Amino acid sequence: MKKPLVAPSILSADFADMKAAVALATRAGADWLHLDVMDGRFVPAITFGDKMVADLRARTALPLDVHLMTVEPEHLVPAFIKAGADWISFHVEACVHAHRLVQTIRDSGAKPGISIVPSTPISVIEELLPLVDLVLVMTVNPGAGGQSLIPSCLEKAGRLVAMRDSMGYGYLVSIDGGINRSTMGAIAAAKPDVLVMGSAFFGAADPTAELEFAKAVWNRS
Ligand code: DX5
Ligand code: ZN
Repeated sequence: MKKPLVAPSILSADFADMKAAVALATRAGADWLHLDVMDGRFVPAITFGDKMVADLRARTALPLDVHLMTVEPEHLVPAFIKAGADWISFHVEACVHAHRLVQTIRDSGAKPGISIVPSTPISVIEELLPLVDLVLVMTVNPGAGGQSLIPSCLEKAGRLVAMRDSMGYGYLVSIDGGINRSTMGAIAAAKPDVLVMGSAFFGAADPTAELEFAKAVWNRS
């Protein structure tokens, strides 16, 4: 795997033209497609459900990285697995039996990820770290694209990378929110494995250049 992986978030794409969004991400050399599922309860906004994932699955071979910003994710996970999600991350803040849900996702053949909002410390997910394939660190408060990166969250991501390396765990660290040209230097120093890019990618005149810039800065540091 050539790091970093870049996962454009379709949240910042035109929901009326997903075909074009997938084509753009593919042409730009995206590694994954990041799919933000919002339920109007865990976060105020509502985006889309499992049908979007199934329809995208039929259109692309890119790994689908589903980010559930929902309450009671355990009720939604089976539908998203059936729809063809490759990676499913849910919020620890939204799920009491996170340990069990990680297992359910793995047993269903998808890769389990755990996500934390900016106010959640690493200690809350410590018991899950040996069990997950992905830790999705929110570097903004979830709910919308185009917000400013919170530096302390980046520091948290860096600690998760160091813990993984020292403990021999297998998870990837993904950061989500506020990635753009001006934050990329600090991000590269934390060495997260996956970069979720929403507005900086889909809002750019040349999305390929944004993706390549992010990868180049990461690889230089
Ligand atoms: C925010 C979402 C992000 C969002 C990032 O709640 O989880 O994936 O798309 O958008 P940008 O890159 O614009 O901060
Ligand atoms: Zn996301």
